[in-house]
Amino acid sequence: MNFQLTEEHLAVQAAAREFAQTELLPGVIERDEHQKFPAEQIKKMGELGFMGMMVDPKYNGGGMDTISYVLAMEEISKVDASASVVMSVNNSLVCWGLEKYGTEEQKQKYLTKLATGEIIGAFCLSEPEAGSDATSQRTTAEDKGDYYLLNGTKNWITNGSTASVYLVIAQTDPEKKHRGINALIVERGMEGFEIGPKENKLGIRGSDTHSLMFTDVKVPKENRIGEDGFGFKFAMSTLAGGRIGIASQALGIASGAYELAVKYSKERKAFGVEIAKHQAIQFKLADMATNIEAARLLCLQAAHDKDTHSDYGKSGAMAKLFASKVAMETTVEAVQVHGGYGFVKEYHVERLMRDAKITQIYEGTSEIQKIVISRELLK
Ligand code: CAA
Ligand code: FAD
Repeated sequence: MNFQLTEEHLAVQAAAREFAQTELLPGVIERDEHQKFPAEQIKKMGELGFMGMMVDPKYNGGGMDTISYVLAMEEISKVDASASVVMSVNNSLVCWGLEKYGTEEQKQKYLTKLATGEIIGAFCLSEPEAGSDATSQRTTAEDKGDYYLLNGTKNWITNGSTASVYLVIAQTDPEKKHRGINALIVERGMEGFEIGPKENKLGIRGSDTHSLMFTDVKVPKENRIGEDGFGFKFAMSTLAGGRIGIASQALGIASGAYELAVKYSKERKAFGVEIAKHQAIQFKLADMATNIEAARLLCLQAAHDKDTHSDYGKSGAMAKLFASKVAMETTVEAVQVHGGYGFVKEYHVERLMRDAKITQIYEGTSEIQKIVISRELLK
């Protein structure tokens, strides 16, 4: 492994950092407070190429590698994890899934617009009673010849009200269990497709999370992704890469909190000296920096595995499991370093602490990552 970043990597990292500091930082507290979706910022991220970073340029993407994506996700997440989850879902679940498994017509029709951020996408697997146990799909896609009749409810869908394209997983043949599941492209506005109210969340409050209801929605057969019955494998395979995105989000939340803690510890005085001079604070910073470095290496390892076409299911799950734990621990300690000031919104660390928690839940909880990792170890 050689993690020497190229000039292109450094340029992407610098561009993402600049964008996060100038365009995302102003207003991030208000967007969190009022649960305001960062619409203008996401539009600009699309213009800068952050919404379809790894997509082939022939479909209007950036043609970049996964390492570039990890670096950009870290910088965006340091400042605004609500914006970075929109970026992560669009890049690694929706664009990647369509590019890898979609037909040429599907790519021309949807991917070319998703890759530029002209429209954004959503990935719809979870249901009220099927989260970790994802094979228990209750949403049905009945085969009606030249279309599927879609019925059911999806839960917790990121970009729920802002997406134009939804990749929906549904059961066609219950007898075949997970081998009877399909993945369908559903367009916003199709008759019988309703969007539920916005969830009022602990963290990533700027992102929009909704349930979706489908009542007799007619989805044309040409909107199926892959062969009949490929839907569950589609979801699992897509999530394997998605987890690298969320691991990088967790890394960014941790490193953002760490940078704020370092800065504050050099400014704040207690007992006549900067608090950074107290060894208790120094040791906290040392632990944070060490854990963050380890999380970063796991993210880069998983990205490198993906870029070199090696198996990245285990390394991606390890990166997500570890980085999300580091995000939680680091943000709690960053609040501690800030004392009372850490408990109020102006100092940003309380938001990062709230945002960190979701990285241990979505795209597979930490317990699910351990299942994925241990199955790989024991197979
Ligand atoms: N690639 C391709 N196929 C895969 C795969 C992969 N990485 N992993 C598993 N599969 C296939 C298996 O080969 C198997 O198919 P066959 O029987 O035909 O061989 C099929 O999937 C079922 O696999 P399992 O028997 O392992 O299934 P399981 O019921 O034991 O569940 C699980 C496995 C890992 C727990 C899975 O259900 C899972 O990942 N659950 C978590 C769901 C999740 O991550 N949801 C995230 C929703 S999206 C989201 O959250 C987005 C966001 O927040 C922003
Ligand atoms: P459950 O599966 O009910 O789990 C409850 C607890 O039991 C967890 O601690 C879990 O780890 C544990 N558990 C369950 N099974 C096992 C087991 N076998 N062994 C050990 N422990 C176990 N989903 C989408 O499809 N698309 C999205 O865009 C999306 N965005 C989301 C955004 C937000 C803000 C949130 C909160 C969720 C989002 N999700 C999305 C759903 C998310 O992926 C699920 O919440 C997650 O997979 C967990 O499912 P669950 O909530 O049903 O919890």
